[in-house]
Amino acid sequence: MIDLTGKHVFVAGGSRGIGRAVCVMAAKAGADVTVNYVRNRAAADDVVNQVTSLGRMAFAVQADISQNGAARDAVDKAVQALGQLDGLVVTAGVFEPAPIDEMTPEFWDRTMRVNVKGTYLAVQSAIPSMRKRGGGSIVIFTSTAGQRGSDIYSAYATSKGAQILFMRSMAKELAPDRIRVNCVAPGWTETDMATDTINALGREDIVKSIPLGRIGLPEDTAAATCYLLSDLANFMTGSTMTVDGGFDMRG
Ligand SMILES: NC(=O)c1ccc[n+]([C@@H]2O[C@H](COP(=O)([O-])OP(=O)(O)OC[C@H]3O[C@@H](n4cnc5c(N)ncnc54)[C@H](OP(=O)(O)O)[C@@H]3O)[C@@H](O)[C@H]2O)c1
Repeated sequence: MIDLTGKHVFVAGGSRGIGRAVCVMAAKAGADVTVNYVRNRAAADDVVNQVTSLGRMAFAVQADISQNGAARDAVDKAVQALGQLDGLVVTAGVFEPAPIDEMTPEFWDRTMRVNVKGTYLAVQSAIPSMRKRGGGSIVIFTSTAGQRGSDIYSAYATSKGAQILFMRSMAKELAPDRIRVNCVAPGWTETDMATDTINALGREDIVKSIPLGRIGLPEDTAAATCYLLSDLANFMTGSTMTVDGGFDMRG
């Protein structure tokens, strides 16, 4: 049912984790995919090979999306390679702990630069191409931490809350252009970003705290993303889809 045939999706942070699963699932649904990465060229190439083996076109592009001009250059190259954009998914982000007594201004700035400024720059870069196509779908990866707050991860939670308000602002501003903007909020998901923390905090306790009784997989949130990218979600904008096995409901 979810059909992305003929669409070009740019995944900011597509080389690993959830972004990688989005690239592969979107390709299975018919999309051509740009895989953006910051450091890990080998991982990006691996995703490109997986996408092309599914019969879709793929293009890898290096860019630190938080640096001025980098996302714009990356989108320009992607459009040259695969055509105008229909979808943008922002999964690129950092997740690091710092108790308030130990937090440095540099730490705070880095979290905000990658998670908030990077999101703004990636979204701004995609808009001209989507306007040329007559519309598009933007999916921003926030977190349940951005809805409820998080001790030790206060900078991260603040950055994720900011993404939600940016998403809602963009949803209003871009609706006349038929560009839909939504968030996906994962709970704990098995990726390079989270697995060490899950193990350190106690995997069994975390599983017990999740009503559906397991840690999320990248494919769980990739499925929600592909829905939001598709025409099935044509009437959805300004929403946050929580994909956390019910974790946020626990008493
Ligand atoms: N995993 C979880 O439990 C969880 C829970 C809630 C929310 N989330 C959110 O979901 C999103 C994806 O998380 P994940 O677990 O998939 O992370 P991950 O496994 O650490 O993967 C991060 C990806 O983002 C790329 N990236 C990082 N900084 C970048 C930058 N400045 N510019 C461009 N690309 C950049 C990385 O590229 P390289 O391969 O080149 O390093 C990699 O492809 C994040 O926004 C995170 O906050 C995750």
